Amino acid sequence: MATLYMLTETSKFMMSFVIVTDKNNCIIVDGGRPLDMPLLKEAVGGRHISAWILTHAHDDHISGFTDEMAKNSGADFDLEKVYYNFPDYDALIDNHNVPDYTYFRTELEEMLPAFNAVKEKFAEKEHIVTQGESIDVDEVHIEFLYAFHDGLYANLMNDSSLVFKMTTPNTSVLFLGDLGPDGGDVLFRESRDKLPSAIVQMAHHGHMNVSMEVYAAIMPKICLWCAPDWLYAEPEVPAYLADGEKLRRMGRIRMYGTALTRRWMDLLGVEKHYVTADGTQVIPL
Ligand SMILES: [Fe+2]
Repeated sequence: MATLYMLTETSKFMMSFVIVTDKNNCIIVDGGRPLDMPLLKEAVGGRHISAWILTHAHDDHISGFTDEMAKNSGADFDLEKVYYNFPDYDALIDNHNVPDYTYFRTELEEMLPAFNAVKEKFAEKEHIVTQGESIDVDEVHIEFLYAFHDGLYANLMNDSSLVFKMTTPNTSVLFLGDLGPDGGDVLFRESRDKLPSAIVQMAHHGHMNVSMEVYAAIMPKICLWCAPDWLYAEPEVPAYLADGEKLRRMGRIRMYGTALTRRWMDLLGVEKHYVTADGTQVIPL
């Protein structure tokens, strides 16, 4: 039986999963920041990493990976393949036809230059994910349901998140990365029949995430929250969502906090919540 480890934050918030298969190989999802690397290495425990999946180019997801590559080409990891699909920095950086160019540029600058600078260090291991493709790692089947769609510019990097369904002989886990409302709508339109899953990784740490209809299509029994306490228990309208006019100007009109997402999950009858605020969570798959 596979085991999923949802690692708790050493940095202020982040996303990091390790899945150990029945043949003792690993799948890593993201990994968090450089500060989070010691805990990740402890969870991996020197095992072979068949797949390291990078959901999207934000620092709370891939700066740890990027830093390890910059430092020593990932020498602390026995790494077979890296899976990702990021927006093209050069193709997008001069595109001013977006809702808020200042924000758009910040998004492109956050991680892509640093990531692109270390790409040659794992060039022979990289695989650019295409939506619809599948991989198998021992008994774990992974189907990629969503990859970067050019044109979703109000929430560029989060809406470029890979979405994938992990299926074992016993259960299924849907990983939503940091997908936002617009990306969620595209996912729903294109793949709604494939969404039902017993377990879901809550999109974007549980706030400013995909809409209720996506979760209603998933109908999860178990929710995985990569959220420290300040985020899991944040007020109904947190300070960063108080200025509705500014959000509208940025084209970010359906951004809500964690409190609303938690109410949705209650309405759907979710039975169990695992939260990184409570420490590293270990879940049999
Ligand atoms: Fe994130």
